[in-house]
Parts: sequence; C-alpha cells; structure tokens
Amino acid sequence: MSREIRGAGAGLERTLQRDFYFSEEIFARERERIFYREWFCVAREEQLPEAGDYLALNLAGESVLLVRNHDALAAFYNVCRHRGSQLVAEGSQGKFTSGIRCPYHSWTYTLEGALRTAPFLDEEAGLTKGELSLHPIGVESWGGFIFLNLTPTAAAERDYPLARQLDAVPERLCRYPLAELRSARRIVYQVQANWKVMLENYNECYHCAPVHPELCRLVPAFRHRGGADLDWERGIPHREGAWTFTQSGTSIRSPFAGLNDDERVRHKGELIYPNLLLSLSAEHVAAFTVWPHGPEQTTIVCEFLFHPAEMAKPDFDPTDAVEFWDLVNRQDWAICESVQRGMRSRVFQWGYYAPMESASLDIRRYIREKLGEGQEVKGER
Ligand SMILES: [Fe+2]
Repeated sequence: MSREIRGAGAGLERTLQRDFYFSEEIFARERERIFYREWFCVAREEQLPEAGDYLALNLAGESVLLVRNHDALAAFYNVCRHRGSQLVAEGSQGKFTSGIRCPYHSWTYTLEGALRTAPFLDEEAGLTKGELSLHPIGVESWGGFIFLNLTPTAAAERDYPLARQLDAVPERLCRYPLAELRSARRIVYQVQANWKVMLENYNECYHCAPVHPELCRLVPAFRHRGGADLDWERGIPHREGAWTFTQSGTSIRSPFAGLNDDERVRHKGELIYPNLLLSLSAEHVAAFTVWPHGPEQTTIVCEFLFHPAEMAKPDFDPTDAVEFWDLVNRQDWAICESVQRGMRSRVFQWGYYAPMESASLDIRRYIREKLGEGQEVKGER
C-alpha cells in the first residue's frame, strides 16, 4: 500500500488515541500515577501568610488541607483519623486558632498534624496518639508556588523531590523574581475538555493565526509557518514598539529588575508537568494551574502576578494585562471544548501532530511513561 493511499496523516506523528480523552478508567490511572504521584501546583505562598492559615482544596478528587504552621507549610488529607469526617469544608479557607479540630467528636490535631486531644479518651482507653496523626501530604515551594505530593513516602523512596520534577525550569527563569511577585487578579475558568487537550493547546502556536487574531497583531511571528521558527528559549519577539502582553503591547509598569536584554522585550513560556503553565512578560506573569476533575471537566485558575513595588503605586491597574489575557484564554478554552466535542465523533480514532507541534509529542511520551504503557497503546482499555 502506498503512502498516498494510506492518507494524508500517515507521515505525521499520531496523538494519543481517543479513549485517553474520555475514559473514566484512564482518568483513574492518571489520578493514581500522575496527579497523586507528581508534585501538583495548588497555590501561591501569599495565600497563607500567617501561622494557622489554611486552604481546603480538591486535588483531582482527593480533599486536601494545606496549613501554614509555625515553621513551615504542611498538608494533610482532609480526613479525621477517628471516623473519617472531613476536618474542614472542601473549598473553604480560614484560620485555625487552636489546632485542627474535627467537627464530629472534637478530636483535635496540632498544625503539624499530631493528634493532641480526643475527648474522654486516653492511652488506658486504648488510644495510641502517636499512631493517629493526620495522613501527611508532601509540600514544597518554588518561586512562591506551592506544590503538593499525595504519596510523599513513595516520592521519598524514589528520591523525587520537587527539584527533580522542575528540572531545568528554575535555571531558565532565574532572572524573573517569581517568589517576590503577588497576585493582583485571579480568574477561574471551568472548561469542558480533557486536561491534556489544554496542555497540548498550550504547547503549540500552530493554532494562533486562526484562533488568536489579536495576539497575532501583538506577535506577528505567530503567523509565520505556524510558529515553526519561534525560539522559545530566547523568548518570542513582539511587533515593533511592543514589549509585553497587554492590549497596547506596552505598559507604564517597569520591567522586572534583573532581566536580560531579551527578557525585557520578549515573552517566555514554560509548561511544568503536570499542571502549571507559566507565561512570562517583562513586567507581569500569567500563571495557570490546571485542575482535572474528570476526563471531560477541568478548572483553570489564572493568577496575574506583578511586582509589589508596582502594585504599591497609586495608579497601578492590572486591567490592560488581565483583559488581554482573558480574551486569549477564552479563545483557547472555546477551541479546546470544540476539540473535546469533535473527538467524540464515531469516526475519530486519533489525531496528528504537525512538525511545528512537536512539543505536544512530549505529552504523549509523558502520559505513556507515567501510565507505564509500552509503545503500543491499546485504545480499548
Ligand atoms: Fe492559544
């Protein structure tokens, strides 16, 4: 059979098969082998400024409690060791003033997760406090971002601290003052698409010309050959006279101190598997965390980060960046939802990556590696 007869896509790399975007069973494996085993970005440090501050989050179906204790951050499964009651309401945030008290029978834990008191029970009654600490979750930070690992013992056993997952990213972004930045605005998007569709979309600019006309006016290079010639390591260039991702392409805000000549006028992007996407301009950073809830439901939290010295100025207004990003984001999520709906068709088995989408191939490799698949991935699993 000749190549022509086999069809136009035969020379291109295939995407994952359709089931990887719909199957509850595959999503359950992704939960166990990716979201609960990798370092998952959940928050910014500034969200828990003082001892006792907490956030209760749903991380791909597991309720987790993130706490600032006296020395550091700590995290636990949001489950009382007594009868399993949730310790705080999911999605809530607040402050513990005298330990973590379960609302059911008032078992109370320290901010470090140790069982402190259980009313009317003591060692003589069979209570072994030392064995009844809250189930721990790994916590590490980088650049002001907090990451959790739901299987910290396994991570320690295979010597997998956050630094190993981040790999070369901190070095590449070393001149951006990420830890100093503060969020001026947060937008939460609910998207009816598989989390991998969004990562694949983030990883390529072949779609920019058809989907993002305004963005292409700011970055004309996106229109050329599907972004094939872009040098993301150096940063992508704006049109003449523009230097940041705002509606005008400029800003009254100063670029971050310490950037190099390229970084002051170019834009950088990083995809940190499994769920943190960073888009870095010279004077602001758009940070996206991806929260998969099911194979076809994903929440995206977009934080707009600025330098506190700029935020302290009386005329500080992040709207120029926020509105531009919100426009681009909505264009992306709409096309991702269209992809998700289209892939449902009975004729769709897999898609193709064009050469300028080669970074998305990493997602296919990543998924296969993490799920323990061989080269041949069966669609019927
Ligand atoms: Fe896009």
